[in-house]
Amino acid sequence: MEWTREKRYLPYKDWSAETLLHLQAQAANSKYQMHYHLRPISGLINDPNGFSYFNGEYHVFYQSYPFGAVHGLKSWVHFKSKDLVHWQNLGLAVQPDCKADSHGAYSGSAKEINGKLFLMYTGNHRDENWVRTPYQIGAWMDKDGKVSDKTILFKNPDHITEHFRDPQIIEKDGIYYAILGAQDEENKHGHIDVWKSEDLKDWQELGFLKFSDQDMGYMIECPNLVNVNGHSVIIFCPQGLDKSVADYDDIYPNMYVIGDEVDFENHKVINPSTLHNLDEGFDVYATQAFNAPDGKAYEISWVGLPDTTYPTDDEGWANCLSQVKELEIKDGKLLQKPVEAIKSLRHDEEKITSQLIKENSGNQYELELEIAADQIGNLHLAANDDLSQSLRIAFDTQNGTLTLDRSKSGKKVAIDHGEQRTVSLAKNSKLRLNIFIDHSLAEIFVNDGEHVLTGRFFADPSHQKISFDKDIDYNGKFWKMDTIL
Ligand code: FRU
Repeated sequence: MEWTREKRYLPYKDWSAETLLHLQAQAANSKYQMHYHLRPISGLINDPNGFSYFNGEYHVFYQSYPFGAVHGLKSWVHFKSKDLVHWQNLGLAVQPDCKADSHGAYSGSAKEINGKLFLMYTGNHRDENWVRTPYQIGAWMDKDGKVSDKTILFKNPDHITEHFRDPQIIEKDGIYYAILGAQDEENKHGHIDVWKSEDLKDWQELGFLKFSDQDMGYMIECPNLVNVNGHSVIIFCPQGLDKSVADYDDIYPNMYVIGDEVDFENHKVINPSTLHNLDEGFDVYATQAFNAPDGKAYEISWVGLPDTTYPTDDEGWANCLSQVKELEIKDGKLLQKPVEAIKSLRHDEEKITSQLIKENSGNQYELELEIAADQIGNLHLAANDDLSQSLRIAFDTQNGTLTLDRSKSGKKVAIDHGEQRTVSLAKNSKLRLNIFIDHSLAEIFVNDGEHVLTGRFFADPSHQKISFDKDIDYNGKFWKMDTIL
């Protein structure tokens, strides 16, 4: 089937119920489908949107194109949760149903204001000549999940191109601010643009956020600001970033800087750090973070990348979201940890100490390991009998390195961007790993969140062996994990 422009932007009502049911069944029954992560009900998902706390529960939405594994007419699908682990699907929430979002209800954020959830997102509009106008839209969601009162707040000013999207709504001292990804008209460079409003209706541009002297490439997508232990962390996705500014391997990175605070009026980050990769694995993008009412900082990411195809495209679905992680800053470093409630999915705990960890692991588990400070070896996950096929973690705790290698893990993904990712660790130190496997998703937390490596892999599901390649001095635990949806 050819994905023509007409087809991608066909109104949802013009698709048949049979097609949708078929796509839903394909997604649900796929051997690669995730079972304890948010995943597509059908079609393709990308960015998390509107991650927030409202009416006593956590909410998250994702960008969805329900009719195939392509980026077509986007909407928001809504989930809520009491614990950030078990999610209830509330279905389509923001639909591309007005002129301003005629070609997609693109990414945005949410915030509880006066008993309702205020949604701020980008309406992707194109005219008959396919000329795009990015409208920033405000809408309100009530406690029953009904979205109404869509209003255009502002569009791109003259000095910003059509690439102007992904607003995050922020409140500080009774004033609202929004930060958005933008490309300037003059030089076609990427920026984070700061806006201000006192009433959520009249908006005024303050200017591009100053957070680095370096050129950020040609566009920044999905900027987010979150307070972590009294520091301001800016998470964003620069596109076309020169690798001399900050090195990365994926087609586009998801980066962050840590500052003391943000001076909104002067649109600058006070004392910003250099750029760091948020995730050191393969497929993390468009991370959205927010502060819960208790001040805790949480993030959730799209596990998938723009302009990248995945093996499940052939089955009509693609991508998933990461698990929710809690952010902390310790000794100036950003830590990303699984939330406490993820432990509620664990069952059938087993202590492990031998070289062969499991002959038949299943495809849905957590593995916790503590490896001694003088060990060099390979851990094979999702392996076949002789370990020639596996998702491999190579470690050297003497010299302090860890490599995730998906080159022999099954079907190939984005091989032009490398099949290995390596992180440097303290030398001669114990290595602590929490490894979450959910069918075709691996999330590897290193040393209690000092590094996270996330990656999709597409192994034969019968490859269920977990084993070191030799005798290793370690101890650990293994749990099977429950299904959430
Ligand atoms: C990032 C992104 C956003 C945009 C959305 C559209 O993945 O391109 O910039 O709002 O996806 O789905």
